[in-house]
Amino acid sequence: MASINGKAYPITDHTFDVVIVGAGGAGLRATVGCSQAGLRTACISKVFPTRSHTVAAQGGVAAALANMGPDNWKWHMYDTVKGSDWLGDQDAIEYLCRNAPAAVYELEHWGVPFSRTEDGKIYQRPFGGMTTDYGKGPPAQRTCAAADRTGHAMLHTLYGQALRNNTQFFIEYFAIDLIMDSEGRCRGVVCLKMDDGTIHRFRSQLTILATGGYGRAYFSATSAHTCTGDGGGMALRAGLPLQDMEFVQFHPTGIYGAGCLITEGARGEGGYLTNSNGERFMERYAPSVKDLAPRDMVSRAMTMEIREGRGVGKGKDHIFLHLDHLDPAILHARLPGISESAKIFAGVDVTKEPIPVLPTVHYNMGGLQTNYHGEVVTKRGSDPDVVVPGLMALGEAACVSVHGANRLGSNSLIDLVVFGRAAGLRAAEIVKAGDKQPALPENSADLALSRLDHFRNASGGTPTAELRLNMQKVMQNNCAVYRTGETLAEGSRLIHDVWKAKDDIKVADRSLIWNSDLIETLEFDNLIVQAVVTMDGAVNRTESRGAHAREDYSQRDDVNWMKHTLATIDDGAKKVNIDYRPVHTYTMTNEVSYIEPKARVY
Ligand code: FUM
Repeated sequence: MASINGKAYPITDHTFDVVIVGAGGAGLRATVGCSQAGLRTACISKVFPTRSHTVAAQGGVAAALANMGPDNWKWHMYDTVKGSDWLGDQDAIEYLCRNAPAAVYELEHWGVPFSRTEDGKIYQRPFGGMTTDYGKGPPAQRTCAAADRTGHAMLHTLYGQALRNNTQFFIEYFAIDLIMDSEGRCRGVVCLKMDDGTIHRFRSQLTILATGGYGRAYFSATSAHTCTGDGGGMALRAGLPLQDMEFVQFHPTGIYGAGCLITEGARGEGGYLTNSNGERFMERYAPSVKDLAPRDMVSRAMTMEIREGRGVGKGKDHIFLHLDHLDPAILHARLPGISESAKIFAGVDVTKEPIPVLPTVHYNMGGLQTNYHGEVVTKRGSDPDVVVPGLMALGEAACVSVHGANRLGSNSLIDLVVFGRAAGLRAAEIVKAGDKQPALPENSADLALSRLDHFRNASGGTPTAELRLNMQKVMQNNCAVYRTGETLAEGSRLIHDVWKAKDDIKVADRSLIWNSDLIETLEFDNLIVQAVVTMDGAVNRTESRGAHAREDYSQRDDVNWMKHTLATIDDGAKKVNIDYRPVHTYTMTNEVSYIEPKARVY
């Protein structure tokens, strides 16, 4: 029982070896690993696991299997370093690409229904920025696909494996805050069970945040409405930094108006973009790989075409994606999902007409700083990589950093399973099954419950929905594909205003049972702090790198800016603190050498 502001909140206590928050691809893969290692494992999710946002991933999962032509994990590593615009940590990128094939074969053996080649191998398609022979050869066919529903197939398979390994699930539990002790160790998490309003305190030797990205800080995003960066919010409130938050990926092909994803696999299968002159303009921007350039470049090219008056449609404000030249049988076999989405959300029959598309927020490269075992690390004194005991982060919630300033398409699904697996392996080393855990500090639920109680009784003048819309508009207008010092400075002022206006928030429903007003407010509280650190990180970074394209600083500046941003907040004083740490300019093994920075042309 805890008493907050004179109100009694009964608490149900649970003890596990490992508690994983989030049941998307990363959370479930870690769950399976920890359960297989004999650790008492709980997986907590605010949605039913197979509704996690991984279900929406379409085009595929990258791994150099060489099923459709020559390939090599070292080429994959080269492409990922180059795609990251040299902000990725090369030891972690080596870990990712080296372990990718094994992670995909494991999924295959567990039952993921991959599409097949004529000779029965896993089907692989080209994706942006994936090349052969260290960028000198033609595009690589490296992205392993289950039609255009790869995330769906993976998520369902991983959930089945977690059940098979007797993981205990806590479904529709909303994680409010981490429990950190006075020595900086994470000791668990406090949750609200949404259907009955009870409070649950999970004590664990290890807590793993796999809570996804914060795409919903923006007005138009391919992300689900549940992508509210809950892990990032918890980390900032616990005094931990978030890394590289200014790098926000716009996917070139969100459906105009609706924002739903049309997979890059559409261009991998031969689709192409045109402007109002019917021109395949990508030939001008990326002469060698054209429509298969990395996402940051394609999004910039599309924005430029629209700005220069060559957009399509009545308002000349979007671009066409053509699939109408492709064999309908191929569309049916390989792109059935997006054919249906185009029909439903754009009223387009893809066999006959182009799809209206626009760059749309899709992925956060930033997140909790981790090493390649998944352990959260932080800067202490002159050491930038000190492990935070008891805490890991995975997937889009984390910043390992393998994606650096720009993620390559299909490197997200592989990130989920490679580092989800790594976390399970590390947990097996550092956690002893059933070890007695010290009692939790008396006040261990106070941070979570005082926030909960504060918002539940918030009686200001501005409804959460209004603040959220203001935040989304500011992010969309002021922290977009192209940025300038002026738009960012204005954005910083406006987003800080929204942050301050949180003090005037109004929640109408005072109950605890299925109170969506309260849950959306807790989610907004997570989003707004990540929105401010995104904006302020972008203001400070006076260069262009990957997805951070400054018109006033149009060049990459390796001398001053080949470094990671680390942002912390003081929510009470409404202040952001920005620090930096060096990029890892070393590899994991001697089998590969550090890839020296050079101009990023395709
Ligand atoms: O375009 C897509 O299918 C998305 C893939 C990704 O973000 O990795």
